[in-house]
Amino acid sequence: MNLQETKFFKTFCNTANNMYQHGWDERNGGNITLLLDKEEIEKVLDVTEVKRVIPMIFDASELAGKYFLVTGSGKYFKNVKENPEKNIGIIRVQENGKNIDLLWGLEDGAVPTSELPSHFMSHIARLKVDDDHRVVMHCHASHLLAMTFTHDLTEKAMTRTLWQMCTECLVVFPEGVSIIPWLVPGTNEIGEATAKKMIDTRLIIWPFHGIYGSGRDLDETFGLIETAEKAAEIYTYVQAQGGAKQCITDKNLSDLAKAFEITPREGYLNLN
Ligand code: 13P
Ligand code: ZN
Repeated sequence: MNLQETKFFKTFCNTANNMYQHGWDERNGGNITLLLDKEEIEKVLDVTEVKRVIPMIFDASELAGKYFLVTGSGKYFKNVKENPEKNIGIIRVQENGKNIDLLWGLEDGAVPTSELPSHFMSHIARLKVDDDHRVVMHCHASHLLAMTFTHDLTEKAMTRTLWQMCTECLVVFPEGVSIIPWLVPGTNEIGEATAKKMIDTRLIIWPFHGIYGSGRDLDETFGLIETAEKAAEIYTYVQAQGGAKQCITDKNLSDLAKAFEITPREGYLNLN
């Protein structure tokens, strides 16, 4: 089978396209990294042929030898599906953790996303708590981004509002959302802050910028961001309609948690 016919490759391109269609990835906004299965990639690509060696600002030795499908820096999600060779690439982390081998794609001198440190640090953090973890996804989801200007920026308040906006939010992200301070994108500092939060939650809000999501596959991670973003959209409508007159109660949320056998983030529901 050809690389571009594999399910993971097609899903990656379709996901980038879907994210663009949702308006979450204007221009070069957003980035995706997918941890690939070694055996699977070796079946469709000659991994002994290194096209280029690319240095990194972060020591990723914990990921040495691992393969990733990644979006390119400055590349538009709008163009991924039509022209994957130029906009995405397959990379392998070298043993020293400081360089990466480019094995496919990122043609014409393109490089992986500038957020590679945040992605790699997040992969390392999630793999420590979930062996099946595979995906890190960043985008500029519009309503969530807008909420960071108007809503209380504490994790508990933001989580509770999102849970209250659609009944199934609690089931999809019972651990809630995390929030980091505003930091310069592409730096090790924002990567470290994001990865620290990834231990406890799969969704991290970057105020005035966007959101990070992680998960076991592309659909699940897309769905996670989609669900939080839908809740933020409902919040926007509710505010525009003059504010809520009634709401899902904490008792309702607690009953939901019992029915779906999930555990809401400790201390986030007021049940007395
Ligand atoms: P890249 O084009 O380098 O992936 O950056 C996009 C982005 O959203 C930065 O936060
Ligand atoms: Zn961004």
